[in-house]
Amino acid sequence: MAKLAFNIYVTRVIPAPGLEILRQHIARVEVNTADHILSCEELLQKVKGRDGLLPLLTEHIDGEVMDAAGPQLKIIANHAVGFDNIDVKAATERGIMVTNTPGVLTDATADHAWALLFAIARRVVESDKFTRAGKYHGWGPMMFLGGDITGRTLGIVGAGRIGATVAARAGGFNMHVLYCDEVPNPKIEQELGAKKVSFEELLRDSDFVSVHVPLFPSTHHLFNEKSFKLMKKTAYLINTSRGPVIDEAALVQALKQGDLAGAALDVYEEEPKIHLGLLALENVVLTPHIASATIETRTKMATMAAQNLVDGLSGKRPANLVNPEVLGKA
Ligand code: GLV
Repeated sequence: MAKLAFNIYVTRVIPAPGLEILRQHIARVEVNTADHILSCEELLQKVKGRDGLLPLLTEHIDGEVMDAAGPQLKIIANHAVGFDNIDVKAATERGIMVTNTPGVLTDATADHAWALLFAIARRVVESDKFTRAGKYHGWGPMMFLGGDITGRTLGIVGAGRIGATVAARAGGFNMHVLYCDEVPNPKIEQELGAKKVSFEELLRDSDFVSVHVPLFPSTHHLFNEKSFKLMKKTAYLINTSRGPVIDEAALVQALKQGDLAGAALDVYEEEPKIHLGLLALENVVLTPHIASATIETRTKMATMAAQNLVDGLSGKRPANLVNPEVLGKA
C-alpha cells in the first residue's frame, strides 16, 4: 500500500507500536528523539510545513503554533485524553482536526488515584523514608498513625469515565460514595449507590475527595481557600486531573493550618514546577504526572493517537475527534 504523501511531526518518542503505525502509513515521519520537552522556539521551528502533529500534554499548541506550521496543517492528534494544551477554537477556525485518547487510560488513572489515596492515608511515603533512614528502632503504638479507608466516605468531583471508575473501586472497601457533576451519572447511582450532592456538600461530608474534572475556565481554582475551609480537618485531597484546578498556594496554607489532613497530587499548577510549600510538607504525596504511566496504557494511547492521525490524513473521520464541527468547514 502506497504511503500517504504527508509530513508529520511527533514531539517526543512514544511507544514503538504508535510510531510503527505512523511509519507504515505516512511518507515523512519526524520524531523528536531528544529526551526533553521542546521549548516554544523549538516547537515553532519544528512544526513548519507539517500536515499533522502528534503532541503531548507538555506542548501548548495555540494559534501561533498552528500558523507557524502553515495552512496545510490538517490534524493535531494529542497523546492524552485531556486537551487543554490545545486551543481547539483556534484549530476549528483554521479547519484543523483535534483528537484525543479517551477510554484507554481510564483504568490506569483510576488505579493511580487509589494508589495516591492509600499512600497519603497510610503514610506510605513518609514511613518508607523513615525506614530507609535507619530510624525504625522498634514497633510503636503511636507511630505513623494514619486515617481509616474502609467504611469512610469518598467524594468524587467529576463523575465522568475516570471519576466513575475510581468510584467503582470503592465498593471493595465498603465506602460510601458521593459525587458532584453538572450531569447526573445514573449508572454509579444504581450500581454503587452513589449520591449526587452539591460541591459544598461533598466537601463537607467526604473523608477523601478525588478530583476528576477537565480543566476549563469554570474549573480553574475550583479548590481554593473557601473550599479547603469546608473540608473535614481529617480529610484527604487526591488530584489526578489537572493542576490548575487547585490553587496550590491556598492548599499549602490550608495544609499548614490543618484545614485538611493531607493531599496526594499527580498534577501541578505550573508543571513541572512544584510549589515549594508543597515540597516542604510531610502530609503531601507527590508523583510526576504518571497516572496513565503503565506500559500497556501508554502503548494504547500511542496507537490510538497514531491511528487518529492516519485516519484524519487519509480522509476518514478520526474516531476521537473533539471538534467534529471542523468537518463541516473543511
Ligand atoms: C493525562 O493527563 C491525559 O490527559 O492523558
